[in-house]
Amino acid sequence: MNSDSYVDFFRQTSPYIHKHRGKTFVIALDGDTVAHANFHRTIHDIALLQSLGIRIVLVHGARPQIDQRIAQAGEQSQFHNQLRITDSSAMQSVKEALGSTRWQIEAELSTGLPNSPMHGAQIKAIGGNFITAKPMGILNGVDYQHTGEVRGIDAESIQQQLQIGGLVLLSPIGFSPTGEAFNLSYQEVAAQTAIAINAEKLILVTEVSGILEDNNLLRSLSVPEAKALQTKSDNTAQNKLLETAGCACSEGVKRVHLVSCAEDGALLTELFTRDGSGTLVMQDHSEVIRPAEIDDVGGILDLIAPLEEQQILVKRSRELLETEISRFTLVLHPEGDLLGCAALYPTSDSSQGEIACMATNPEFLNQGIATRLLQRLEADALEAKMTQIFVLTTQTAHWFLEQGFIEVELSDLPEKKQSLYNYQRNSRIFSKIL
Ligand SMILES: CC(C)(COP(=O)(O)OP(=O)(O)OC[C@H]1O[C@@H](n2cnc3c(N)ncnc32)[C@H](O)[C@@H]1OP(=O)(O)O)[C@@H](O)C(=O)NCCC(=O)NCCS
Repeated sequence: MNSDSYVDFFRQTSPYIHKHRGKTFVIALDGDTVAHANFHRTIHDIALLQSLGIRIVLVHGARPQIDQRIAQAGEQSQFHNQLRITDSSAMQSVKEALGSTRWQIEAELSTGLPNSPMHGAQIKAIGGNFITAKPMGILNGVDYQHTGEVRGIDAESIQQQLQIGGLVLLSPIGFSPTGEAFNLSYQEVAAQTAIAINAEKLILVTEVSGILEDNNLLRSLSVPEAKALQTKSDNTAQNKLLETAGCACSEGVKRVHLVSCAEDGALLTELFTRDGSGTLVMQDHSEVIRPAEIDDVGGILDLIAPLEEQQILVKRSRELLETEISRFTLVLHPEGDLLGCAALYPTSDSSQGEIACMATNPEFLNQGIATRLLQRLEADALEAKMTQIFVLTTQTAHWFLEQGFIEVELSDLPEKKQSLYNYQRNSRIFSKIL
């Protein structure tokens, strides 16, 4: 990467850095991620997140490590409905595997050699008896013995540790009030923790790139879509991820991200680029249409600058935009990225409105964004008791015609607008009765 593209890239990440700072993320690594060749890179990336001011709870799984220990003990792993039956001898293997996996993670978090990405990171991994558990019990005649489920999360203690700058590391084990240990699902621990501490995000890192449908990666899913996919698919590992994501979202976690440990940097790409790398599951992934605010000026300028250069849109300075920001309406991606903008300027007697500066982010063209934006502006104009809207355009005549506008003469415009007409630009004028 040359220095210009590096500077560009770094600047483009700044809105995400601002957005994530001070937020709490629960990151769950399955046992395969811990065993993966990329594991140290995943940990470096998590360390980077923490140094950017993100409060992190790290939850790990250890299924392959437990299987290995059980096999070494000459026993066989027992499952029923994908759920491990943890008898006393399996529980011994669970404790050993969790201890050793946790040790591996803590060691990786502690590295800080000069010339390594962890130099200066100084991460304090904090553990504790934050999870209480209860036995799964006997289901359909099957006694799961030491396999348990989460009974409670000590959210306050976790928050206190995050507050003092620690990284909370949770293993999927919990204790009952009788002091008995239970083997838990790391996904359940992660989801319940994210819910209990009101985390901004739950991030599930596994070997898969995200949720696939017919081998295509789905970039985002709403909870109902996630549920529908579960009923259609017989991929049990994927269905478990969807179930965890759906449960967390339904209980108030705003966003659940599924990212791959196999793809180097997937976690950073997911969090610091607009398109991401994996799958985002959220309660509702519909776009947001809202009035612009002063903080949106920078984003609008970025969107319209190339169109101004091509003289498709009339040039507006930052100062003018700041003054007129209340005239603008925006369409935003649920993650907050600007997808489109348009302005509605009332005429001096407020009987008509001029539509201006309509632009859709080039990467999201032909998805109906401008149409929905125009519908919103028409509704706003009607509410403001305008009877007509008009637009001056050099290159988008047909788009407006297809939206029900008709071409009119300059003399049909309000007088004040006629006097401001730019003959050099020679725009065509379209009008629509509301
Ligand atoms: C015009 C513009 C806002 C449309 O954005 P959009 O979100 O892609 O629009 P929609 O998805 O609602 O509509 C897309 C449809 O309009 C058509 N369309 C897009 N631009 C068009 C144009 N200049 N003339 C005619 N039709 C056009 C597309 O082909 C598509 O039709 P299809 O679905 O039949 O293929 C976008 O192309 C843009 O930003 N253009 C540059 C700025 C501009 O000209 N603004 C208007 C001046 S105020």
